Formats: sequence, C-alpha cells, structure tokens
Amino acid sequence: MADWSDFIQQIKRNNDIVDVIGSYLELRRSGANFMARCPFHGEKTPSFNVNRSLQIYKCFGCGESGDVIKFVEKYESCSFVEACEILAKRAGIPMPETSVNRDDKEYRERKAKRDVYLAICKDTAKFYWRVYRSEKGQLARRYMQGRGFDDVTVNKFGIGYSPDGFSLPKYLASVGYSMADCVKCGVLQKGRQGETDALSGRLIVPIFNMQGQVIAFGGRGMDEYTIAHGKYKNTSETPLFIKKDNLFAVNIAKEQKQQSALPHLVVVEGYMDVIAMYQAGFKGAVASMGTSLTEQQAKWLSRLSDTVYICYDGDAAGQKATVRGLDILDRAGLEVRVMTVPEKLDPDEYIKKYGAEAFDKLIDDAMPLPDYKLKLLENAFPINSSDPAQRNNALPKYVKGAITMLKSLDDVRQARYITAVSLTTGYSEDYFRRKLTEENETELPNITGDELTQEDKAKYFVAACVLHGEDYASVEDKPLCNSAFLSSLYDYLLDCKSKGAKPSVDMLYTVCPNASEEQYSYIIDVDLSKAKREVNKRYFEECKRLVTVEKFKLRRDELLKKLKKDPSDGDLLNELAELSKKITDIR
Ligand code: UTP
Ligand code: MN
Repeated sequence: MADWSDFIQQIKRNNDIVDVIGSYLELRRSGANFMARCPFHGEKTPSFNVNRSLQIYKCFGCGESGDVIKFVEKYESCSFVEACEILAKRAGIPMPETSVNRDDKEYRERKAKRDVYLAICKDTAKFYWRVYRSEKGQLARRYMQGRGFDDVTVNKFGIGYSPDGFSLPKYLASVGYSMADCVKCGVLQKGRQGETDALSGRLIVPIFNMQGQVIAFGGRGMDEYTIAHGKYKNTSETPLFIKKDNLFAVNIAKEQKQQSALPHLVVVEGYMDVIAMYQAGFKGAVASMGTSLTEQQAKWLSRLSDTVYICYDGDAAGQKATVRGLDILDRAGLEVRVMTVPEKLDPDEYIKKYGAEAFDKLIDDAMPLPDYKLKLLENAFPINSSDPAQRNNALPKYVKGAITMLKSLDDVRQARYITAVSLTTGYSEDYFRRKLTEENETELPNITGDELTQEDKAKYFVAACVLHGEDYASVEDKPLCNSAFLSSLYDYLLDCKSKGAKPSVDMLYTVCPNASEEQYSYIIDVDLSKAKREVNKRYFEECKRLVTVEKFKLRRDELLKKLKKDPSDGDLLNELAELSKKITDIR
C-alpha cells in the first residue's frame, strides 16, 4: 500500500499534466494555463482548461475535472491501474511490486504466454486479411459486396477469409509458433488429422479488445454446408477471450469517442449489425454477440459513454434474460434506453430496407428503461383490453409488477413514475408510496449530497483551504464526515500533517476517486485569489468553529444519553461540564 502511494507520487512528478494531455490534444496557451476542446463532451470552442501549477484539468463546459491519471483513465477508457501503467511506461518508471507479481514466476509466465497468444491472433488476422484480398478471397468479397458492404467498411473492420483447414496452421508453423499455443488461443483446433483452422472456410470478423488488440474471431458460414455447422462459429473460450464478457467493436467506439465525444452507444446483437451501422454513419455501435449482458460488459460500456441504447431483434428484447441484462446496465449507472425495430428486422436489415434516417428516428423514439418495463407489463397484463373481465383480471397483476419496477428506481425517478403508474392504473399515488415504504423500511436511506448543511459547506471549505496550502489554514482533527469523499480527504490532509508534507491538489483525484463533479467542484472551484484573502481567512475561522461545535455537540448528546442510564457517574458529569464550557467559549 505504502509502495503504491509513493509510486503514484513518482509517476505524477514525472508526467507533467500539460505534456501528457498535450500528447493527446492540441493545447493552446491562455495566460498561465492551457486550453483545448474538451474530449469528454462535443464542443466547438475550447473550454477545457489544463492547469500546470495545480497539475489538474477542468472543463468549464461539462464540469469534468481530474489529475493526470484520471485523464488517461478517461481518455484511454481504461482502469486506474492501466492508466498508471501507461504513465509509468511513458516516464520509464517500473511498476511497483504488488502481491500479484512480486517474484511470482507463475505471474510472469502467464504474462509471457499472453503476449505469445496476442501475437498469434495478430498474425492470424493478417493472414485472413491477405487471403480475403487475394485470388482465393473472391467468394468472400462477393459475399460482402452482395450484402452491400463497401471496401472502406470492410477494411475498417479488418474483415478476412479462411480459405480452408490447413493453410493457416501451415503459415503459423512457418512463422515459428508452437501448434499447442495456437490451439490454446483458439485459432487452431486439434482433430484426428492434427491441427486445423478452427474457422475453416468462413468469412472472418476479427474481435478486438479496448486496447485495439485482436483477441478472437467470429466466422460466418457462407454456404449451406458450412452453415449446417452453425451460421457463426466463434473462437472458443481462451485466456484472451471470454465471449460473454467482451463486446464486439469496443475499439471502434473508443476511437470514435476520442475523435468527438460519444453522446451515446448503441448495443446490438450481431457483428453485421455493427458493421452495417458503421457504414450508415452510426459509429458508436457495439455488439453483445448474442448473449445476455454481464457486469463486465457494463463496465466496458460505462467507460465509453453514460447513455446506452439497446437495439435487440424484435422478440429478444422482451425476454427475461435481456431485461436482467438491462438492469445490470442500469445498476452500473448507465442511462438505458430501449429501441424497438419494427417487423422483427435486425438493424442491418432495417437500415438496408428503410435507410439511415429511418434508423435515426428509431433512436429518437427509444424508451427509457422504466417505460419499457411498463410496456412489457402491459403486454403481459392487458389493463387496457376492451374486455372488462380480462381488464379486471389483469389489473392487480399489473400493479404488482409495477411496484417491483418502482422499487428498482432512485428517489427522483420513483416520484415521477409513481405519478405515471397511478394515472394508468387508477390506484392512488399514496397506495404506491405506502407499498414502497412498507417493504423498504429495512433498507438504508439513499443519501444524496446536493442539499448541503452549513456544517458540510464548512467542512468542504476548510478542506479546500488546507489542500490549496493557504498559509492561515490547518486542520488538527477529523470532523464528522457523512460522506466517503470528506472522510478520505480529511484522512489525506491529516496524514500529510503528521508527515510534515505539503498536501497537493491533484492528489484529490487519487484519494477520492469516482466522486461526483459537484464534490470535486466544492474543493477546486473555491475562489482563493489574493483579492479575497482577508475575507477567506475570516470565513475559514468561522467554518472551523462551526465544525468543532458540531463535534462537541455530538459528544454532548452521547454523554447525556449515558447519563440518563447512570445519573451519578462523576466522570461523565465532569466531561459534560467541560464540554459545555468549551461550546460557550468557542461561540
Ligand atoms: P444473428 O443471427 O442475429 O447475427 O446473431 P447477424 O449479425 O444478424 O448475422 P447475419 O446478418 O445473419 O450475418 C447475433 C449474433 O449472435 C452470435 C453472433 O455474434 C451474431 O452476430 N451468433 C449467432 C453466434 O455466435 N453463433 C450463431 O450461430 C449465431
Ligand atoms: Mn443480420
């Protein structure tokens, strides 16, 4: 743990935020700072500010702010550790030895193997690519042309062709790979006649990971005989590829996001849907490859955008497994909308038949997840049926389902949908509210921090002054913290104090990761300019007093409670008297 915080300091010292961001974006000097067009939301005039002295960035358009690590994390759509890796590499600093890789022979071997597998996949993709574009690839080229795909699109997705069962193994052996490794990473399969191409005779769709490495392939049969063994055959599960956890085309969505922030993603089922959408101008599409969505996939999606449109083939979207998948996305904090494609067409077919504009309209008409669930409920329980018996029979079941749906919502949405559901069912809003609280009593209340108390404001202000190194500001002990954000921040400030170190503003994003823009803004947007120094100094004292009084009062309440049980405890009485004096003094 200690290793890591030293390491983080070190990579930050050796990766100036202006240099790092400057290597990704075009920065223009503006006074003491640098400006760019924000990569995290679409904009024409630059409002993305990089501050060299504080080593942080902040966009005045979308509010996103962070340090150098957070920038890389967001821009590269990667994890915190991966961002550290990128920056460490950039500065030539070795990664710290963690419990995973310390002297761990097994770990190092696994990593070396992984590199071999990646190389095999890459060479295999190149092989398929060449065959597709050679004499032998005519069949595949005709197939793609027949489906209306142009060369730009075909090249963009790296489409290839497997000519037969034995050419690929022959080629891979000639490069020097061991057949066993080629089987392990799924490109070859072992049969009676030795190793053969696992996707023999198929059109090849390479699957890339977020870092743009080929990790697997999908192979589409193009003739009856091949299709009899499955329309698609995919690389089997390997150390590089777990089908249910990956998404097809994340690499392309990421590239798109880097060029001009992605307003939303569209999740479809099939390879060909993504490819057709790309050609029609919808470049933020990924495919779940025909399985229900997983938490890992939700993670990939949330690194790319915060709004996700689901576009599944007609009947698939209503299935239980699908709805469960959508709930996973919702819980991951994504805004989920469900599209409905008419006539049971898939996006590829729909675009071919009705064009891109019509598809755009389907995106516009997509339903928020709660509305979609209500629609499914109504399909199952026809409360608007013209047959009164059927209607009466359906109503209580619909209401029951609606309550389950309402329970999955946060407070704000709940209030909105209670009104809606009350209108459609004729049950009162109160009825739903009662039902919801009845069963929720055991659950913890959902604390949202937008309404700050005086004391909380004071805690933020005190922390901001200390973090920014204002000479009049210091903290001696931790206030009552009702948020993880404040708690970690004060831990950090007190830790610095105990070590005699100067706190550093950019560390905010390391000690308090994943906080809201609002919370960051309480700390970094405080006006601490020279002109306001005297005012701030006075306000700081005021705030500290407020926070201390709060703490004393809580202690006093505790003492009073104890005294009720044991009214003659002398120690308690003494402490109480002292405390009361302190409280009057400090006021
Ligand atoms: P679809 O059958 O909808 O595929 O299956 P598609 O993309 O529309 O294919 P075309 O248009 O007929 O060529 C959706 C996805 O499910 C997976 C694939 O990832 C496919 O893209 N799938 C489907 C398989 O893995 N194996 C299969 O046999 C079928
Ligand atoms: Mn299709």
